[in-house]
Amino acid sequence: MTESTIEDMKLENAYSAVSATYKGTDIDIHEACREMRETTPVYEGDFIAQFGVPTNAGLALGTRPNFALFKYNDVMSVLRDGDTFTNGFIAKGFGEAFNGLTILAMDGDEHKSVRQLLHPAFMPASVNKWHDRIDEVIRRDYILPMVADKKADLMTFGLDFPLRIMYALMGFPEDDAEKYRKYAAWSLAMVGGNQIDPDKVDDAKTTAKQASKALYQAINEVVVSRRAAGSEGDDLIGRLLRAEHEGRMLNNHEVVTFAMMLLPAAGETTTRTLSSVLTIMFTTPGLLEKVRDNRELIPKLIDETVRYEPVATFKVREVAKDVEIRGVSIPKGSFVQCMVTSANRDEEAFENGETFDVDRKAKPSFGFGFGPHMCIGQFVAKLELKNALNAIFDLLPNIRLDPSKPAPVIEGAQLRGASSVHVIWD
Ligand code: HEM
Repeated sequence: MTESTIEDMKLENAYSAVSATYKGTDIDIHEACREMRETTPVYEGDFIAQFGVPTNAGLALGTRPNFALFKYNDVMSVLRDGDTFTNGFIAKGFGEAFNGLTILAMDGDEHKSVRQLLHPAFMPASVNKWHDRIDEVIRRDYILPMVADKKADLMTFGLDFPLRIMYALMGFPEDDAEKYRKYAAWSLAMVGGNQIDPDKVDDAKTTAKQASKALYQAINEVVVSRRAAGSEGDDLIGRLLRAEHEGRMLNNHEVVTFAMMLLPAAGETTTRTLSSVLTIMFTTPGLLEKVRDNRELIPKLIDETVRYEPVATFKVREVAKDVEIRGVSIPKGSFVQCMVTSANRDEEAFENGETFDVDRKAKPSFGFGFGPHMCIGQFVAKLELKNALNAIFDLLPNIRLDPSKPAPVIEGAQLRGASSVHVIWD
């Protein structure tokens, strides 16, 4: 791909390419996990291989011993123990496109200190200040312009709005707000670099590198000028430039690389989660009316969807010392595949775990991860999703599925979601 085609890259194409890469085989992952949970809760082997998807390691997992975990307690104890189960290997695979500097690939004290620097900017006290801004973008730029059409594929909105919001929250110049589509396409091309199809791998890696370079330059320009102008402002870049913990601050390179990883981390995860929330809401009898008439259920609808249909079906960790889980010895250097999608439905942790229950009592699940790497942006994501649902209910009266179109389906072996949600309203 040439530099000019990088310039013209389309967000929709970049998103479809990522979906195709992470969709994998048609094996029903819930079914496969249910069986393992019952028969082989600690599996010795590469469970993921059958799905034909890359892992976020971006490495050939087959080159080392692999184990897969299916039970809630096991997944929790691995994800919470970042000293024994580490992430550093990600820097060599997936992290390459992000200059290896992604927070996801950091361990130990390095991770702790960067995380503490970032933390305040993402806590509810800070995030809730963005409520009106998020609401304004959703209503003004997306839902209000749709009203007269009386029908839509809500995933056209769903693909766009989380990226548009991140662009606004980061504090990019609003004189060319359309730029977010280009930046978003580049950020997805970086994720798409994690390709395992031998016919596509070279192209995907080259494109990912070019996209990464272009995005770095674009964000760097903003960061340099913002620092020169005094690092002010309540937006994310302003907050990152001023962030301080125990005398340490982030340099420009760190701010740029963190901002680069935020676009894919914040964008397509929120898009896919919205698609699953909507699919479940529209296809479960009575649920749409129940939530529409009692908006206080919206946060529960989101939490239960993140449990029942987490976007990312598994997380991989490397084992830093010999361990034993349920009597199975796992040697140092092995990869452990934590099957989030299985743990989240484990009947020992969740009564009727295979049933979607909007009234379920709150309990941690792993759709936003768990432990030291738990999603730092979860409050942003939940606020965006809540505002999106409220705007849809407020402005699109009697919204329902479009009977002339196929009903939405949640699919994908690694990244799950529905590609379209066709609706009509009065
Ligand atoms: C519904 C949407 C989202 C989902 C389902 C989601 C999911 C996740 C998960 C599962 C992890 C843990 C990864 C691991 O343990 O290996 C994670 C980490 C992360 N997420 Fe999210 N995320 C979402 C939205 C966001 C948003 C909106 C942001 C930023 C504003 C964000 C920023 C991050 C970052 C920076 C990390 C890395 C944290 C670390 O390594 O310490 N995410 N996310």
